[in-house]
Amino acid sequence: LRASGSISRFPLIPVRGVPLMCSIANNWDSVWSFCPDPADLLIATYPKAGTTWTQEIVDLLLHNGDAEACKRAPTPVRSPFLEIFSPPPIPSGLDYLKNMDPPRIIKTHLPFQLVPTGFWENKCKVIYVSRNAKDNLVSYFHFDCMNMTQPEPGPWEGYISKFMHGELSWGSWYDHVKGYWAEREKRNILYLFYEDMKENPRREVERIMRYLDLSVSDEVISRIVERIMRYLDLSVSDEVISRIVELTSFKNMKENPMTNYSCVPPPVFDQSISPFMRKGEVGDWRNHFTPEQSKMFDEDYEKQMKGVNIPFRDLI
Ligand code: A3P
Repeated sequence: LRASGSISRFPLIPVRGVPLMCSIANNWDSVWSFCPDPADLLIATYPKAGTTWTQEIVDLLLHNGDAEACKRAPTPVRSPFLEIFSPPPIPSGLDYLKNMDPPRIIKTHLPFQLVPTGFWENKCKVIYVSRNAKDNLVSYFHFDCMNMTQPEPGPWEGYISKFMHGELSWGSWYDHVKGYWAEREKRNILYLFYEDMKENPRREVERIMRYLDLSVSDEVISRIVERIMRYLDLSVSDEVISRIVELTSFKNMKENPMTNYSCVPPPVFDQSISPFMRKGEVGDWRNHFTPEQSKMFDEDYEKQMKGVNIPFRDLI
């Protein structure tokens, strides 16, 4: 890849009104016709809402907290990205999926209406993770600076405007979070919040575990309890969950080559510009928005989210 020098930022092409990277739009039929197995699980997010974190939690849950098992491959290999078509020779998400047996943990950033209907027909489990708009925007801005396949972010001020107008890859954040919210009960979607995961990761890991109908063995529990308690300085009653919490802490995931996206070569992800595991905090938007920008954003937010009460936190 380094030698080919063929990396270019993909322009966006609308698919049913949603701007997607042309590599996705040009292959849309193959994405749309993907049919999952009923045992497959979908993790859906607007970009930068905590996808990788959730993928790691789910993979660990499915492997009973076995850290080594979850180091078998980097995140996008263990948990393919349904609609992505990266520059060759990186395989597409569909290529990875073709060579895997269910149950597969599938990642998508597609808004609800663009999720292939097979997921609903087959009643697949779906976890949706959302993040407050301002932090999500900040994270996306830094990501677009370093991901050489995404459109140029341009200056910060203009980026805010693009976000508000739904002009970034995968479209409007507002429509995205509202779309899944409206369908969550009918489709049995587990709707999570990044801020809740930060506040009490254990509670959210347990929530995911219950949703997946999993229970973790006592043997794993006793194996790990000491380590967890040392690390987190907690008294825990369900140690395997704590192990997962530890393994999926920001610090550990940042250091773990299987989760920190060091697998994507520098011409595509230039982590010297901004690391994939950047800050992992709630409220970093305060370091980016001026008071005027924040006010303007809030006013528009009220309009765009009118009549919907999704309990986002730490936005004001
Ligand atoms: P920041 O840019 O705010 O640091 P995604 O996986 O959807 O692309 O989201 C990436 C964002 O989630 C980044 O946010 C990243 O640092 C954060 N993140 C990834 N793993 C995390 C973890 N274990 N704990 C907290 N935040 C995490």
